[in-house]
Amino acid sequence: MSATVESVIVAIDGPAGTGKSSTSKAVAAALGLSYLDTGAQYRAITWWMITNGVDVADPSAIATAADKPAIVSGTDPADPTITVDGVDASGPIRTPEVSAKVSAVSAVPEVRTAITDLQRTIAASAVMGIVVEGRDIGTTVLPDADLKIFLTASPEARAARRSGELKGADLAATKEALIKRDAADSSRKTSPLAKADDAIEVDTTELTLQQVIDRVIALVETKRAAR
Ligand code: DC
Repeated sequence: MSATVESVIVAIDGPAGTGKSSTSKAVAAALGLSYLDTGAQYRAITWWMITNGVDVADPSAIATAADKPAIVSGTDPADPTITVDGVDASGPIRTPEVSAKVSAVSAVPEVRTAITDLQRTIAASAVMGIVVEGRDIGTTVLPDADLKIFLTASPEARAARRSGELKGADLAATKEALIKRDAADSSRKTSPLAKADDAIEVDTTELTLQQVIDRVIALVETKRAAR
């Protein structure tokens, strides 16, 4: 009888610019798993708030609207998609305006409850397993994940990667915006950016993307072999 590969849930958390998305997508693709970018979901709800005239400086206005947008994530790592009320949001969620406002929106408990419910439903329906990337996946969303990784990197390395992605954005301004967002994400009351006690920390500062991918794949294989 041939051995069946058991489903595996991998949580990858860490601040912006540590290579979370590139690593998570590549690991999921290599292992035949689904992939979920939870930051894209928080960006999508932020974009919806902005385009629907909700004052993102008013937590109670955000809370009241939190369950209104219908956010749908496609979980194929080769083509991750995101729609809001049926509209493709993949472009608009990456604007500097959304990046600047997403921390305030994602700090509102009603937003976190709505998005966390969505994330758990998606993870539970991934037959072969899933790689879920974010800030609170190992601590809050999927505390029973089979493997938890926490990616870190120096602020300089993170800013350099992010400004490269944004094609020539000013390095100092990118670093400042990134540090500000991390501080807000780490200090909020509800499920802040944090390393779970049982997460494995990988400092990516001196590693190439391929080295990070290989390390995470090896950790998944080790977990599977130990079962
Ligand atoms: O991964 P990203 O930079 O696209 O995430 C955008 C923001 O979403 C991030 O600044 C904080 C929020 N976020 C969160 O609060 N919890 C998550 N699990 C993922 C993202």
